[in-house]
Amino acid sequence: MEEFGELARSAGASVVGSLNARVERPNPRYFIGTGKAEELKAQKQALDADLILVNHALSPVQERNLEQLTECRVVDRTGLILDIFAQRARSHEGKLQVELAQLKHMSTRLVRGWTHLERQRGGAIGLRGPGETQLELDRRLLGDRVKQLQKRMKKVETQRTQARRARQRNALPIVALVGYTNAGKSTLFNALTGATVYVADQLFATLDPTMRRFDGLDCGPIVLADTVGFIRDLPHDLVAAFRSTLAEARDADLLLHVIDASDPERDQHIADVETVLVEIGADDLPQVLVYNKIDLVEGTTPRLDRVDGGELPRAWVSALSRAGIDGLLRAIEERLGSQRVRAELHLPAASGRLRARLHAQGLVADERADEAGWRIRIDAPLALVEPLFGLPDGDGDWLRAKVC
Ligand code: GTP
Repeated sequence: MEEFGELARSAGASVVGSLNARVERPNPRYFIGTGKAEELKAQKQALDADLILVNHALSPVQERNLEQLTECRVVDRTGLILDIFAQRARSHEGKLQVELAQLKHMSTRLVRGWTHLERQRGGAIGLRGPGETQLELDRRLLGDRVKQLQKRMKKVETQRTQARRARQRNALPIVALVGYTNAGKSTLFNALTGATVYVADQLFATLDPTMRRFDGLDCGPIVLADTVGFIRDLPHDLVAAFRSTLAEARDADLLLHVIDASDPERDQHIADVETVLVEIGADDLPQVLVYNKIDLVEGTTPRLDRVDGGELPRAWVSALSRAGIDGLLRAIEERLGSQRVRAELHLPAASGRLRARLHAQGLVADERADEAGWRIRIDAPLALVEPLFGLPDGDGDWLRAKVC
């Protein structure tokens, strides 16, 4: 409930009251029982509330029945999260994704129109965002718009996939920051890259992945990707709609799982993030756990240790004060760069293309020309050399045979 209050405040609402209900079997009419629904109506009147938020997904019928009974606009959990997403989305893709998810969510609720409610009162929560102007459209127009958006999304996704392939060709390892919303991912991203990404004490401040090249590691340059914050019970529609955003995490070489160490719920949040990682197929990627905000946890010092003495590294840091960042960098290097390739290659004169590729990737530590061609010394992380094994015309196979 506390987190739901946080969500409500993130959407700009001020919470005037709350009502708990135990629901063993959802009532088809109101979701909650009839007695509870009446209680809700009385409380709404007593508090003069403008809006009722329900911390659960409601069917369109339940939402409408509750609205009619209480004479107040009702927004369910999905509607509320969509509203926050709508306000936060910044990139073209993010906006398309939100509008699509919003329209899909609204399409089932549209037929009734909103005439039984006064639009001015009740705030705009749940009605804002790119989907807002579509509200009065009939279903046919809405269907057209959804199709159009899906087409556009496909195009953006293709572009993103191409960009990702280009990055992979460039062989820079991708390190993605994942974690529960508000854990401090953007702050850490800034601390590492020196960039100024929007940081806010609000849930879901980041909606679009932000990518930056990062050169501060001994094992070579990497691409650091900030991603959308995860949350428990993310409505399923949204998981699907945000798949391409989260694909950045799925395609990463390493995940930095950022955890708010000062949050009493931190273990639950770790489990929640793991669940989402399984859902998007990113659970088998190597991870470094980053216990952030240690400045808020008394007696905790910046350090690097391992979970239960095992393999999984755990860095205790404060992204805000930069304490422990060095330890984190060591953990990243260890995970990414533990396998280095050191080899001297005798490249025949006919292998000009391969030589050019080695240079383009910055893999050449030293080079001498001789009568047979070139002697090239490479000294680089395996993660950087490996993508070249896929080169056509036998070059890739030749390289693999030489360096493995
Ligand atoms: P989402 O975009 O919601 O996923 O959030 P996020 O994980 O990117 O969190 P963000 O970096 O926006 O930080 C959330 C809040 O935590 C901000 O108010 C930060 O200033 C604060 N914060 C981040 N790191 C630290 C830290 O090391 N110490 C303290 N005290 N606060 C921190």
